[in-house]
Amino acid sequence: MTDVGVSAPVRAYHDGTKHHFRRFARSLGYLDWASQPNPFRSFTGAATVPLSPRPDAPSGSGRHNLQATIGDVLRHSLGLSAWKQLGPSRWSLRVNPSSGNLHPTEAYVIGDAEPGSGAAGVYHYAPDRHVLERRCAFDPASWQAAVAEPDGWLIALTSIHWREAWKYGERAFRYCQHDMGHAIAAIRIAAAMAGGTATLLPDWAHAEIAALIGIDRDEDFFEAEREEPGCLIAISRQSGVVSTESLVESRVVSPGVDSRVVSPGVESRVVSHEPLLAGVRAGQWTGKASQLSEDHTSWTFIDEIAAATRDPGRDVPGRSAGSSTPSHPAPAYPARVILQRRSAVAFDGVSAIGAAAFFSMLSRVLPPAPPFDALWWSPRIHLALFVHRVDQVAPGLYLLVRDPLAIDRLRAACGRDFLWEPASDRLPLFLLARGDGRAMARRLSCDQDIAADGFFSLGMIADFAASLEAFGAPFYRHLFWEAGVVGQVLYLEAEAAGARATGIGCFFDDPVHDVLGIADHHFQSLYHFTVGAPIEDIRLTTEPGYAWETSDQV
Ligand SMILES: Cc1cc2nc3c(=O)[nH]c(=O)nc-3n(C[C@H](O)[C@H](O)[C@H](O)COP(=O)(O)O)c2cc1C
Repeated sequence: MTDVGVSAPVRAYHDGTKHHFRRFARSLGYLDWASQPNPFRSFTGAATVPLSPRPDAPSGSGRHNLQATIGDVLRHSLGLSAWKQLGPSRWSLRVNPSSGNLHPTEAYVIGDAEPGSGAAGVYHYAPDRHVLERRCAFDPASWQAAVAEPDGWLIALTSIHWREAWKYGERAFRYCQHDMGHAIAAIRIAAAMAGGTATLLPDWAHAEIAALIGIDRDEDFFEAEREEPGCLIAISRQSGVVSTESLVESRVVSPGVDSRVVSPGVESRVVSHEPLLAGVRAGQWTGKASQLSEDHTSWTFIDEIAAATRDPGRDVPGRSAGSSTPSHPAPAYPARVILQRRSAVAFDGVSAIGAAAFFSMLSRVLPPAPPFDALWWSPRIHLALFVHRVDQVAPGLYLLVRDPLAIDRLRAACGRDFLWEPASDRLPLFLLARGDGRAMARRLSCDQDIAADGFFSLGMIADFAASLEAFGAPFYRHLFWEAGVVGQVLYLEAEAAGARATGIGCFFDDPVHDVLGIADHHFQSLYHFTVGAPIEDIRLTTEPGYAWETSDQV
C-alpha cells in the first residue's frame, strides 16, 4: 500500500508544490506591489453592527448578552492585536497569525446576534473595525428550528486564495489551510475564555456553507475575488464539549486503514441544514463584496486542488457540540498572552529553556484537551523535533508521537536506523538520534536562522496516505488545519513561557523526509515551527489594535 489513498489531484498538487534544494514551488518570483491585495474585505451597503468592547457597542445587558460574547470571542481570536510602523510603512497584526501576514481567512457569523431586532442574521466580520456587516436578515423561526441551542451561534471560515497566491504562487493553497487551522484554534481558545466551546461541524458540505453565508451569490461578488468555503464551527455557551467519560473512538472498519474519529458520545446533528438554508434563501441579502486588487495573476493549480478537495460533508458518528458534561480544562491563557502573541523574526542563539518548561509545552499539544476537541478526527500530526538548547535534554532528533496507535507505522516508515529511546516517562517522546542538528534544521527550513537559533524547531509529520484513504481527498485540507492548531498552541505556550515562536511554511519537503528515511507518501512533512528567546526589532513602533484601547493593553 505504498501511496494508496492519495488521489491523483492531491498527489499532483502536493508533490508539485514541494520546495526542492534546487527549485522552489512555482511563484512569480517577485512581488508585484501594484496588485498587492487589501488585507480587509468589506461589503458596501451592508449595515454594520458594532461589537463589544467598542465603546459604541450596545451595553452588556439583555437576553443572554450574546452580542457581547460574539464581540469577545472574535476580538480574542481574529481581531487586531497591534499596529506596527517602520518609517512610512504601517501595518496591522492580528491575534491569529498568517503566512506573510497576508490573512486569507475571512469569517462569517450566523445566529440571533441582534436581540430585539426581530431577525436572525448572517454577518461578515470586519476585523479592521471590529464590527459585523449584516449580509442577510432572515426569519428567526428558521434559526430556532435549526438549532438545538438558540443561544449558540456559528462561525464559518473562508479563504481568499488570491491574498496568499499574490506572494507565494502555487504553494499558497497550503498556507491558506495552515492559516485556517490557526484560526480554528484561536476561536476554540477564545470561546473557552468566554466560558463556552467551539467544534467543527463536518456534516456541512462546502456547497451548503457557501449557500449559508452567501459567498455563492455571483451578483454580490461582481469583480470581487471569490472566497473558498472552509469550515463551519458551532460555538456553544456551555463549557463542556468532550468529557473523558463520553469520549468515544469509532473506527470505520477497512483493512489496514486508520479511520478513527474522536467525538463526544452524543448523537445528533447540532444544526439542521434544511430549515437554516431555507431561512437564508428567503432572507433579505445586502452588501457587495469589495475588490481587493485591480489586477490578478491566475494560478490554476490552486483552483484545481480546491475543486479536488471540496468537501461533500460527512456524518461523523456521535458528533455533537455542547454536551453539558465538563470537558478537559481548556488551557487558561490570559487575554494579555493572547493579544501579545507575535512571531519572532530572530532568536538570540544562546538562551536555553528548562526541561520542565519544554516537556510542559509538548504536553499541551497532545489531544484531547482543547483546542484539539474542536476537531473530529484522531491525531494525524506528529512532531519531529530538533532539540538545540534545552537544559538536561540531549541535543538531537526526537519524535513526539501524538497518537500512540501510530507508532508501529511510524517506525516502519522511518527507514533509518534510529535509537527509539523513550525520552520522557510522561510523554510519548522518543530520542531518534543524538547530535547538534542546528545546521540541518536551518538548511531544511529554507536556510532560515530562526530554525537553528531557538531552543528547538520541528517538522510536523502528517499521517498522510492512510488519512486520505480513510476520509478522502477533502481531508488534505484537514491535515494542514491540524498542523495549524498544533502551531497555535505552540505560539501561545511560547508566549506564556516568556519566549516566542514562529510558524515556518518555507521548508524543503523531500529533504526533510530524507532525514527521517521516509521514502513514500505514508507520512509527509506539512509545517515547521520554531521556539526560542526573541530579539526584538527596536526600530518598530507599536500601537494598540484599536483606537479605543490603551497601549498598556497591547
Ligand atoms: C502558515 C505560516 C507560515 C509561516 N511561515 C513563515 C516562514 O517561513 N518564515 C517566517 O519568518 N515566518 C513565517 N510565518 C510567520 C508570519 O510571517 C507571521 O505570522 C506574520 O508576519 C504575522 O505576524 P505575527 O505572527 O507576529 O502576527 C508563518 C506563519 C504562518 C501562520
